[in-house]
Amino acid sequence: MTSTELFYGPDLAAIHADHHEALARTAADVLLPLMPSAGRVLDLGCGAGRLSLMLAADGHEVVGVDLSPALLSIAQRRVPSGRFKEGDILSADFGTVDAIAAIGEVVNYATATGGPSALETLFRRVRESLLLRGRFLFDCAGPNRHGQGECVWSEKPDSFVAMQASVRDDIITRKIVTFIRRGSGWEKSSELHRLRTYEPAEVCRMLEEAGFEVQRLSGYGEAQLPNGLHPFLATAVNLSGYLRERSDQTAAEYSKPSSW
Ligand SMILES: C[S@@+](CC[C@H](N)C(=O)[O-])C[C@H]1O[C@@H](n2cnc3c(N)ncnc32)[C@H](O)[C@@H]1O
Repeated sequence: MTSTELFYGPDLAAIHADHHEALARTAADVLLPLMPSAGRVLDLGCGAGRLSLMLAADGHEVVGVDLSPALLSIAQRRVPSGRFKEGDILSADFGTVDAIAAIGEVVNYATATGGPSALETLFRRVRESLLLRGRFLFDCAGPNRHGQGECVWSEKPDSFVAMQASVRDDIITRKIVTFIRRGSGWEKSSELHRLRTYEPAEVCRMLEEAGFEVQRLSGYGEAQLPNGLHPFLATAVNLSGYLRERSDQTAAEYSKPSSW
């Protein structure tokens, strides 16, 4: 992506917010019961803020980071109490939080250029930002996410979006064309998205090396996930080098036997 290319520009952002947030909704159902009361959550690649909204409504403090100003402005409107920052998750400051989410292939997008070493670094930074036993919920596209030339589209009364995928080794390039009804006509825009896929076993290995206990989920709750999209729930467990003090409860966790 160059700075002049659209990436979740206004049209795709509006369509995403109106019609493509099922994943974020169901991911919130998984994360909410795992949160401490009045916890702090970082929503990486927060998009239009659906997950942030559900967490904030449950009393949690939310920070979202995303590359797309159009999505961020929808998120900020929806969640006035949230702090939404424009930035790349590979370099953004994460702070210290109880949970981190990256829902909707965010890690695949963010590491399209940097590859596995960028993903390893991201996992380490996520681990360093989490309190002990903090959760990292995310999904990651695997090699079978799309077939070569696969084409999908979705038609609504006021919008139409079509996506065609081309696959080369572990890189997926999606051409996305949108049409939005404006007045008596339709406006077209198009975007190119690049993602890098990872074998789920490789993702598990990287997470464990970063200091996580890893649970591979079969889905977000009962929800059917798109083909080749793998959800992970990682728990921050490795004590060495990561101790942080936040509360008495957390301090008690620190004093648990080192059998972890
Ligand atoms: C499929 S959308 C998912 C949005 C949201 N998490 C949801 O579930 O509705 C992927 C998101 O990742 C964001 N994204 C991709 N690469 C990013 C990066 N390097 N840093 C921050 N955000 C990124 C995009 O802008 C987009 O909002």
